[in-house]
Amino acid sequence: MNVTFSKAALPKTGAIVVPVFQGGNRTVGFRSLNKMTGGALERAAKVGDFSGKTGQQVELISPKGFENGSVLLLGAGKPGEMTLVNAHKLGARPVAKYFKSHEKALTFVLDGFTANDIATDELHAAIAYGARLRAYAFDVYRTTAKRSEMPSLKKISINSSEALEARKVFVDLDGIADGVFLARDLVSEPANILHPESYAERCKELESHGLKVEVLGEKAMAKLGMGSLLGVGQGSRKESKLVIMKWLGGDEAQKPVCFVGKGVCFDTGGISLKPGEGMWDMKWDMGGSAAVTGVMLALAKRKATANVVGIIGLVENMPDGDAQRPGDVVTSMSGQTIEVLNTDAEGRLVLADALTYTQEEFDPAVIVDLATLTGAIIIALAHEYAGCFSPDDELVSALTDAGKATGEEVWRMPLNKAHDDMIKSEIADMKNISGREGGSSTAAAFLKRFVKDGIPWAHIDIAGMAWAYKEKPLCAKGASGFGVRLLDEFVRANYED
Ligand code: BES
Ligand code: MN
Ligand code: ZN
Repeated sequence: MNVTFSKAALPKTGAIVVPVFQGGNRTVGFRSLNKMTGGALERAAKVGDFSGKTGQQVELISPKGFENGSVLLLGAGKPGEMTLVNAHKLGARPVAKYFKSHEKALTFVLDGFTANDIATDELHAAIAYGARLRAYAFDVYRTTAKRSEMPSLKKISINSSEALEARKVFVDLDGIADGVFLARDLVSEPANILHPESYAERCKELESHGLKVEVLGEKAMAKLGMGSLLGVGQGSRKESKLVIMKWLGGDEAQKPVCFVGKGVCFDTGGISLKPGEGMWDMKWDMGGSAAVTGVMLALAKRKATANVVGIIGLVENMPDGDAQRPGDVVTSMSGQTIEVLNTDAEGRLVLADALTYTQEEFDPAVIVDLATLTGAIIIALAHEYAGCFSPDDELVSALTDAGKATGEEVWRMPLNKAHDDMIKSEIADMKNISGREGGSSTAAAFLKRFVKDGIPWAHIDIAGMAWAYKEKPLCAKGASGFGVRLLDEFVRANYED
């Protein structure tokens, strides 16, 4: 969806949206609309008991001057509580209302809508950004849907005297939204369409945006000794892939920021087969890789001044006559051996070799991996936070800050020697599971064994965040694209000048 910015007169059709602060003065935009409608806005606010509280809405259908449209009063909350994250949600709310309706166009009236601690162009751009992020649907496979089930909204515009300045700020945000939408598309695709081979091809297409993309197949990975990753894909008819995406927008001397993603295109559990009920969710077990791919596109679109490499391990975890068995011992690229006691704990096996490759091939300034790694993280943090595991306090705080700035929040989880002790194996260097206790932390302890001392590293478990079972402020039910905005902000705040 295109968001347009204009200083011109308001359109006479579509939905006109006027944000109103709680207890604040009426904005210029409000007052002029009120005049145009013969005082309808003030009357509606009174009758509708509208105070401007966050989330409150009063809709005027066909008021004077806008006979073919409507005007929506939108609560913006207390002026002192306006933040960029709140502005995103403010912009998204009317889109949620009108996205699938009869309306084709939505116009925000933002003249005079300002907040104390935020520059007005940034505030208006943030509202546009939130609106665009909410205007997403994955409808490619609907062929018989009724019109009312498909998006009606075709146009979102921002109307304010600062529209042109806001449009400049919006350009980068628009690029980030493209990355979020790419991640949502990848996560939404079913596994018969998006498998390691087709996924790698889609990544290759990103070269048209200025990324360098390299794809390793099974032969190349075998040569590198990636027995851990290859063991997971062994039961699949599809060839496992490792995709390396580079955005080199920084100084040549700048060490790259490395993002590593779990890309299990479908996780049946393998021979340790999952129950059938709910197994369909495992099409989105590549959510970590989607976030990495999405952020690479976002960085390219906004021409980030940093060197960033995205590495994703793409496999399909299938049961088969040739599939890996529980109890098999595999040798990872690092040389460490792993006893695979449960073939359903496969994400860590994929990441292990992807992490080693990252350190062998690059000289990372930092490594952050993202993965839908454990069900246990959902038990701990529900669908509110991603779990963040790292021995590095500074890195955790940088990621926590990026989470707060974007609303894609992470919560630090414990990772220490006790968790490492829990993955000792009787016959190999480690086993890939321990008991149910602290399952997310033992998974993180497993990954840590593949990161060399001295390299700042964090693992983010997004199992509870990649898919929204309920509508969220910035996305409908379905793929959230979680992680793209978090990682983009992490790069912007720490590695760009
Ligand atoms: N992909 C799953 C984790 C998952 C579960 C993601 C639910 C999203 C929603 C992962 O590969 C897995 O199966 N983990 C097991 C690990 C166990 C066998 C040690 C789990 O969490 O049950
Ligand atoms: Mn699994
Ligand atoms: Zn998995």
